Amino acid sequence: MKAIGIIYSPFQNKKDTPIQPYRSHAVGTVEIFEKYQEGLDDIDTFSHIILIYKFHKSKGYRLKVMPFLDENLRGIFATRAPRRPNQIGLSVVRLLKRKGNILIVKGIDVINGTPLLDIKPYVPEFGPGEDIKIGWLEGKIRHVGKNQIRQKALDLIMGVCL
Ligand SMILES: C[S@@+](CC[C@H](N)C(=O)[O-])C[C@H]1O[C@@H](n2cnc3c(N)ncnc32)[C@H](O)[C@@H]1O
Repeated sequence: MKAIGIIYSPFQNKKDTPIQPYRSHAVGTVEIFEKYQEGLDDIDTFSHIILIYKFHKSKGYRLKVMPFLDENLRGIFATRAPRRPNQIGLSVVRLLKRKGNILIVKGIDVINGTPLLDIKPYVPEFGPGEDIKIGWLEGKIRHVGKNQIRQKALDLIMGVCL
């Protein structure tokens, strides 16, 4: 896999970076390399996009980790922790504007200079939408009202929450 662009953010190191987009109001810039620019056509008809990227500042991994929001060891694949075998992260962010090969986005939770691997439009309807369980995260993230549960559950799956 090759990077198709770079994500620029206000965050220079891991400790200052929000743990998920739902905890971030930060605005960032996504530069798509010019050879891929035509692939951005129609992207600005979507309010949110999924950024898929490499945790390039992560080294190695453990199969059991202590997640940011927990005090117990959890299997790495039951978390969004950055130190994982393939170092792939995803964030659902609000798309504010497209200017040529540049996207301005809000809700960024990555370090400045993160290599971008792919972009997809965020479509809640493509998610499962019912009988969602959030495992060890139950009770650890903000309460959502009953009428928001479906949307929030979909957001969880797509990476808006940890
Ligand atoms: C918990 S991860 C969640 C990222 C993404 N929303 C996901 O669910 O895959 C977010 C944390 O990863 C770390 N991080 C962000 N960008 C990184 C990068 N490029 N390399 C290594 N770690 C990074 C920061 O500590 C940040 O707080």
